[in-house]
Amino acid sequence: MKTLKVICVAAALCFMMGGAALAAGPEVLIPVPVKVELGTGTYTPAADGSDVRVHQATRQFAKELASLNLPDFAREEAYRLVVGRKGIDIYALTQEGVFRARTTLQQMLACDGTLPQCTILDYPRFRHRGLMLDISRNFRDKDFILKQLDAMAQLKMSTLHLHLTDDAGWRIQIDSYPELTSRAAWREGATYEEWRSGGHRYSAEGSPEARGGYLTKDDVREIVAYAADRYIEIIPEIEIPAHSGEVLAAYPELSCLKPDGTKANPGGDLCPGNALVYPMYEAILSEVIELFPSPYIHIGGDEAAKTNWKDCPVCQHLMNERGLKDVDELQSHMIGHFVNFLAEKGRRAIGWDEILQGGLPEGAAVMSWRGTEGGRKAAELGHDVVMSPGSHCYFDSAQDAPYSQPKAFSGYTSLERAYSFEPVPEGLSDAAQSHILGLQANLWSEYIPTAAQMEYMMYPRAFAIAEIGWSPAENKDYADFRGRAIALADRLRSQGYNPFELRGEIGRRPESLKPLEHLAVGAELTFNGRCRYNRGYPAGGDNALVDGQLGGWFYKDLLWQGYLCDVDITLDLGSVKDIHYVGATFLSHTSAGVGFPVRTEVSFSEDGENFSEPVVCLSEHPDTDSWALLNTLGTVVNAKARYIRYRAVRDTVNPAHAFIFIDEIVVN
Ligand code: ACM
Ligand code: ZN
Repeated sequence: MKTLKVICVAAALCFMMGGAALAAGPEVLIPVPVKVELGTGTYTPAADGSDVRVHQATRQFAKELASLNLPDFAREEAYRLVVGRKGIDIYALTQEGVFRARTTLQQMLACDGTLPQCTILDYPRFRHRGLMLDISRNFRDKDFILKQLDAMAQLKMSTLHLHLTDDAGWRIQIDSYPELTSRAAWREGATYEEWRSGGHRYSAEGSPEARGGYLTKDDVREIVAYAADRYIEIIPEIEIPAHSGEVLAAYPELSCLKPDGTKANPGGDLCPGNALVYPMYEAILSEVIELFPSPYIHIGGDEAAKTNWKDCPVCQHLMNERGLKDVDELQSHMIGHFVNFLAEKGRRAIGWDEILQGGLPEGAAVMSWRGTEGGRKAAELGHDVVMSPGSHCYFDSAQDAPYSQPKAFSGYTSLERAYSFEPVPEGLSDAAQSHILGLQANLWSEYIPTAAQMEYMMYPRAFAIAEIGWSPAENKDYADFRGRAIALADRLRSQGYNPFELRGEIGRRPESLKPLEHLAVGAELTFNGRCRYNRGYPAGGDNALVDGQLGGWFYKDLLWQGYLCDVDITLDLGSVKDIHYVGATFLSHTSAGVGFPVRTEVSFSEDGENFSEPVVCLSEHPDTDSWALLNTLGTVVNAKARYIRYRAVRDTVNPAHAFIFIDEIVVN
């Protein structure tokens, strides 16, 4: 069917919040509806809702939807909303459709109590419009989760994924293994960062130094019921086999062994060869299933080191017994066990895309986070997939110029970038496309110590996930969306949330937006010695450092050239020139092993043979804990030269500085 874009009209602006008027009407709706026809006037609804006429499952609406050929989930959520001169009519097949229509009504209601007269036809593109909250690294309690469910409902989101277990703390009551909460939920260190820098020390409930917490079963029941009232499904995640350091601290008998039979350094991986693991996790999953009605149960599967497995005698025994040829197949065996266990209980397992390693167990669904390739592969194999690639859907990254933002885990993901994500990879067959359930934002909390900051990282970027998941792809319009996001963020702020303020957004690094003119642009560039840029980070290739293109806020934008060695380059400017400045900007992000060089050295020559003594510029940033910092090392000189030898000397002592990233050698 043909879709219409929302037409912007003058908003009903009336109530004020901190000087900013709150907008209303269809022009603020997120997600943007499939089709909106605006009338001319406004309508003032009755305060008691008595003028809302609900027409559920009428033959005419069913027929209209049938003509659209929608999948079942979209039919169930579909609604037609008519705000007329004499009242409001809602048409839907289900209560869920009615709920979505009422959500639209609420979002459109202006503060003077009026609604614009309009007709809206609406239904979602994907069934899974999700948000993942990591409540392990920094625990967030029931009230926080209920509050986010309210915001998610306003956004017509469908799924909240709770990351309940990780090295930093177990966060759900499990009666059959009480030490998961009496020990594994408590640690020394109020924040994840304090805990990590203090040497990952666990504690016990009630100890004076114990920090942490967990959701009780009553908490979970309340959360699940609250979510169900808002047509939101909760997917619980219990990590298997990795990210399980807290479990191994409480139950060390689940660790691998060394070849001599003594306990191995546990790391974070459960031992798949250990027969105790299986009944324990079956018992845990059984209790989890009782609490969460979701058809999907997330069993983790990401980032297993598998190191201990390679020489653990019980792992090796299991591998020999089952004919498993490597540790990937061992992981697949373990994951497969729990996929089958859940299937016997009538549930489906979903896991991070590493569960493809060693063979994807029959019936498992995949959450694709390391890009979208894992998701594509799984969908082509006939498995259901949720797309949540780090490149667009990880909201633990900075949403604006990193220097202006709180410390964040990785890089720069602006609202615009999040909004640009398309969950269906190009060229996917129709059959495989039907396996793309939707998309999800992941909010890991290592660097998010407070509830307020969690909301700040989440909103408004979650709006983008909501709209991509619901609205037709052909209605996408970032400029229009951004305006609506500003209005909706104001609304959330008025409800007590803490969204990022887009009005003050700095946006992409200004220097990267247009080519920089300088004397070395187009110079002939020769690499001295054997060092070359890393193949994973070529930026523009051999001439990237003299192409006038500067990098953005983060090295993953592929505008930065990466080196695992000293940069050592000679530039030929073509003729002798007066030179007053030679400099370059470097990027550091020590958690990813990216650091500043310790110094740069610049020397000059007119003939390419005889070079001056190098002019040295020392880096003043011997940092060990930086994230997306930029540092320009510039040398002011008075030289005449055709040739410039430029070196950036790497810090070979600090492993956090393994990489150097540089975008341009600027000569003036
Ligand atoms: C993940 O980010 N390790 C799923
Ligand atoms: Zn083992």
